[in-house]
Amino acid sequence: MKILLPILKTLFYFIIAGYSLNASAGNTFSEHSNNTNLSLGKTLYTQHCTACHGSTGDGGVGVPLSLPDFQANISNEYLRNTIRLGRPDRVMPAFKTLSKSDVTEIITYIRSFSNTPIPKEISTTIKGNVTSGKKLFKQHCASCHGATGEGSKGTGVTFSRPRNLPIMSPALNNLGFLASATDHMIKQAIVLGRRGTPMVSFKKQGLSDSDINDIVSYIRHFQRSKPSTIKQNLSPIISYESDYSLTETIANIKRAAVGKNFKIIRTQNLDYGFVTDDKSNNKQVIIYFCNFKLLNSSLAIDPRVGMFLPCRVTVVERQGKVTVMAINPLRLSKLFNNSELEHSCKAMRDVYIEIIEEAIL
Ligand code: HEC
Ligand code: HEC
Repeated sequence: MKILLPILKTLFYFIIAGYSLNASAGNTFSEHSNNTNLSLGKTLYTQHCTACHGSTGDGGVGVPLSLPDFQANISNEYLRNTIRLGRPDRVMPAFKTLSKSDVTEIITYIRSFSNTPIPKEISTTIKGNVTSGKKLFKQHCASCHGATGEGSKGTGVTFSRPRNLPIMSPALNNLGFLASATDHMIKQAIVLGRRGTPMVSFKKQGLSDSDINDIVSYIRHFQRSKPSTIKQNLSPIISYESDYSLTETIANIKRAAVGKNFKIIRTQNLDYGFVTDDKSNNKQVIIYFCNFKLLNSSLAIDPRVGMFLPCRVTVVERQGKVTVMAINPLRLSKLFNNSELEHSCKAMRDVYIEIIEEAIL
């Protein structure tokens, strides 16, 4: 048995990986269409979902779909979006090619697992304090959902999971999840928990309503930082919106840069030197900072990096909205066609993103 287990495990991974690829590519209906005594929803569910979520939705590789607390927590829109978008980079595939009515059939079938009333979608925004939410998340949630909401490690296959955690924790920073879940749904999951799973009620654990709002805002903030991080690989400009005032944002940037071992060189208005001081727009500010080790090592690779060093971040307030921007060193390095330089430009790009994300959190 000791020898068999790893083999079984590997086999299982292959089956799941194969299945998942197949599903993303959009299985057609043909495999089971001869099974006429099954309702269409059941047939489709059996074909596309059973392998992971179990024939009665009691879970397996996927989380359970039949639990009353889950069903009472999620709207049909949540199910529809989850099926369509999947969970990119996780095991749950995106079913892009199922027709709209097929998805509706599957949803109806999933609803038959439980006679819980179907909740309506409530899409009001919940406002909380992201910084406090981050702390609370670290304290109460990170042990299961990961330090930044990335979910349990691995594919969710039970073999390697500790016995006291029979259900893996879903990724909460996942763009598929965030696009499907409303703030209200996330809040209800935290308030009520999901009986029959390791996810307990955090209201019963003593978290206050405002604590929970803070956590919801923190989870929601992943959506703002994540897509921009992906986009920012290619964009010539790294750009984020800040919820803080101009002055606070500038102070936060400086603090974050110093925290990353940079020295602040100077802060000046963007138009400094171009207009007389009394005409200068103090709602557009550049912060220059430097780390001499980075400067020297980059200059040694290619003196042209002098064009974008020292590091600089621009903070602009326009119509009450504060935006933080930096040029994307990675994009610039492409102009230089020097692979060694690309490496340090990528490091610089990552540092910019870390500093800015810390400053706006
Ligand atoms: C002991 C582990 C554990 C802890 C601690 C924990 N969770 Fe969970 N959480 C889970 C599991 C497992 C699930 C999946 C439950 C299911 O199958 O329905 C879950 C589900 C959720 C869901 C629903 C996600 C979805 O895809 O439906 C949210 C939201 C959530 N947790 C947020 C939190 C927050 C916020 C905290 C901290 C306040 C927290 N969890 C703490 C294990 C945990
Ligand atoms: C290859 C395995 C796999 C297949 C096939 C699969 N799922 Fe999933 N599903 C998962 C996993 C794993 C998760 C947990 C998400 C995570 O890892 O963050 C999940 C999550 C979900 C969720 C969110 C549950 C929650 O707690 O919020 C729903 C709803 C869902 N799946 C429905 C379906 C439906 C419907 C199908 C068929 C059309 C399907 N899944 C097919 C693996 C799968």
